[in-house]
Amino acid sequence: MTRWIPDDWTFHSDAVADRFEDHVRESLPWYDLATFGVAHLVRCYLPPGGMIYDIGASTGNIGRAISDVLDTRDGDLVGIEIAPEMADRWESPGTLAVADACDYDYEPFDVAVLFLTLMFIPLRKRAPLLNRLREFCRPGGAVIVVDKTPLLPGYLGASIHRLTLAQKRAAGITMAEIAEKELSLSGVQRPLDDYLLDGFTEWLRVGEFAGHIWEAT
Ligand SMILES: C[S@@+](CC[C@H](N)C(=O)[O-])C[C@H]1O[C@@H](n2cnc3c(N)ncnc32)[C@H](O)[C@@H]1O
Repeated sequence: MTRWIPDDWTFHSDAVADRFEDHVRESLPWYDLATFGVAHLVRCYLPPGGMIYDIGASTGNIGRAISDVLDTRDGDLVGIEIAPEMADRWESPGTLAVADACDYDYEPFDVAVLFLTLMFIPLRKRAPLLNRLREFCRPGGAVIVVDKTPLLPGYLGASIHRLTLAQKRAAGITMAEIAEKELSLSGVQRPLDDYLLDGFTEWLRVGEFAGHIWEAT
């Protein structure tokens, strides 16, 4: 049944938070592979004693994926999560701030990860947030983003969108649930515009979703 999907998508929901871990893997079959890629990049950019922000930390996926490197490098992780319902289910090394990442008082850091987060942040707040992260990122560090990007125009864009639908259906999600979730996301989840990624380099792509990295010099 589809009842756990709110009419207007929100993470401020116990029903959504309870389903999150399973749902994200059904919805995005490459979720664990992309997590592995982010964890690898964190290993590449986090210096000994380094500091990392996991922005939109949800239930702690990124923190758990980098627990070994946090351990060996004596690194410090701060997760930032706006929804208390998600924060209640957060399990990860480090500490969690239940806060809006757009208003957060950042300290200098080495790596910031925004894994499937920016697409849920209102458009007008995205550029100021990325600018603040660039400002506080220490030389040698990086800002790592994985997010939805705008569809290509024309038949290829439609074909790539159909790939997204096909992979969800192959993961066992019903077409009714796929359509209901898509409509629920209207106005809440919006892809990243290219101009935001000026200075970033693409390191991963699966259809509509892509990974980008900005390196601090
Ligand atoms: C798709 S989930 C992110 C998944 C997570 N990074 C992972 O590795 O599984 C998006 C998360 O971003 C959070 N979020 C959205 N806007 C936020 C904001 N302004 N500040 C902090 N967290 C935010 C949501 O509450 C939600 O938990």
